[in-house]
Amino acid sequence: MKHEAWWKKSVIYQIYPKSFQDDNHDGIGDLKGVINRLPYLEKLGITVIWLSPCYQSPMDDGGYDISDYYEIDSIFGSMADMDELIATAKKHGIKLLMDLVINHTSDEHKWFKEALADPKSKYRDYYIFREGKDGKAPNNWRSYFGGSAWEKVPNEENMYFLHAFSKRQPDLNWENTDMREAIIDMINWWLEKGLGGFRVDAILNLKKPTNFYKSYPADAEDGLSSISKYIANQPGILDWLHELDDRCFKKYNAFTVSEADVPDRDLIDYVGPNGVFSTTFDFSYSDIALPSNGAWYMLRDWTVVELRERIFNHQLKAQKIGWGVQYLENHDQPRSISKYIPEADRNDTSKKLLATLFMMLHGTPFIYQGQEIGMENITTLNLDDYDDIATYEMYDRALIAGLSKKEAFDAVVKRSRDNSRTPMQWSSEPHAGFSTAHQTWLKINPNYTTINVASQEHDTSSVLSYYKKLIDLRKAANPYSEVTIFGEFVPVVYNQENIIAYQRVLNDQALLILINLSNESVVVDVDKTFKYHVLDNLAPSKIEDGELVLKPYQSIILANYI
Ligand code: NOJ
Repeated sequence: MKHEAWWKKSVIYQIYPKSFQDDNHDGIGDLKGVINRLPYLEKLGITVIWLSPCYQSPMDDGGYDISDYYEIDSIFGSMADMDELIATAKKHGIKLLMDLVINHTSDEHKWFKEALADPKSKYRDYYIFREGKDGKAPNNWRSYFGGSAWEKVPNEENMYFLHAFSKRQPDLNWENTDMREAIIDMINWWLEKGLGGFRVDAILNLKKPTNFYKSYPADAEDGLSSISKYIANQPGILDWLHELDDRCFKKYNAFTVSEADVPDRDLIDYVGPNGVFSTTFDFSYSDIALPSNGAWYMLRDWTVVELRERIFNHQLKAQKIGWGVQYLENHDQPRSISKYIPEADRNDTSKKLLATLFMMLHGTPFIYQGQEIGMENITTLNLDDYDDIATYEMYDRALIAGLSKKEAFDAVVKRSRDNSRTPMQWSSEPHAGFSTAHQTWLKINPNYTTINVASQEHDTSSVLSYYKKLIDLRKAANPYSEVTIFGEFVPVVYNQENIIAYQRVLNDQALLILINLSNESVVVDVDKTFKYHVLDNLAPSKIEDGELVLKPYQSIILANYI
């Protein structure tokens, strides 16, 4: 084991700071707001917060466009607020993870401004500038958000810079040693403050190919080819990542979770015993509906069998190689209830079922703000109401592909990242108790009058109470904690297409998790050793003659000991 793995027992809660709690009445969440809500988080039982970026930023991409790594953006407060947050969270038994965004900066970062102002400045080489070819960009890469990944430099002839994301997020040139040193200093400066670690953004993209002047087969109507195929996980990247681990993360016993769709064959290098990160997010089942060219205006249908296979594959490989993390939602994903469950079946039962499915898997669970109360996609916005840059870029792509405006809108909003970015629903008070400002930065989901923390906190049958019970299973005092955290994941395959079932096994202790992802009752055989009932999202069901009837959307956890 390369570090002391304190994070294996953690339950992590992601906060999108713009939308969590507004303390200074400007309609935007802030760090003081997070501090005020620490008692809520402690009561929920989480032990780590992952805070999405709150560094200084023009907010072109919700803060993932950093203009100063050493400043807190004034919309969120100050560095003193950050220090207070770290210290107060500690008192509540909570560690803080920051988001580490080092593939790119904002175009307002001083390095980039210098690089533009003076082509001879040393900062020019901190980024990737290249001359165009035949009057066009060096190649036909499409950025992750859509459109060319190259932006023409103003006032210079035939010069472009590379941006894998928005044109206001120029990619850093990791070949440049000075730049790398500056990033290493910055990471250590933050770790010195007492962070628990980092969620590491877009990290697989650091290394670029040496030759940019190739044309690639177009993979969609825009004539472009998705950049992801060409800059992800390129040979040589691991040297830089090991350097970060050796010179930063290891020294502080920091937890690092990479946002990286690592191919199976390379997983060992990233998260194995000598890997560069503690763990990594898996995209295989969260992106189950995405086509390979990333065009989320044409989501594909999927089956429970496929979902089960993806989850099982990931579980088996993650536990063999290292340690996984599980999540249903984050700030880039729609709300899970809206993604995984057909509209007619969306209710508290199916929300609790999803919670059981993912919280009982092997690995550290991440809960995204509002997931614990069953927040849903927003369906009442007009196009202009959206803030997310990717939503607009995808809408344009859909139009280029020939969809009408209405078709493009209907298709794109299902997956829009703003679905999960609407403000947290604390109560049925105006603006859901999120803010007392006249207006909030993004509209609140009108269902806040019924879906909110206040209405669920004291209701033992609520989604929130159910999440607390699942979290409690991982607490040291609980008889099932060791098996829930450390038990081996063992698939159980029934010949039933809508059932997902698995065991967690630790020596002679075992849990059986049964999930009926359908609106029909299904009968399953249950080994007679699983006679103890741990948790159920409906009235507990009885096993009779070795058979159990799983009602629609029922999820059950059984144990072979008490
Ligand atoms: C991944 C982040 O999660 C996403 O929100 C962001 O837009 C991109 N990386 C670029 O930083």
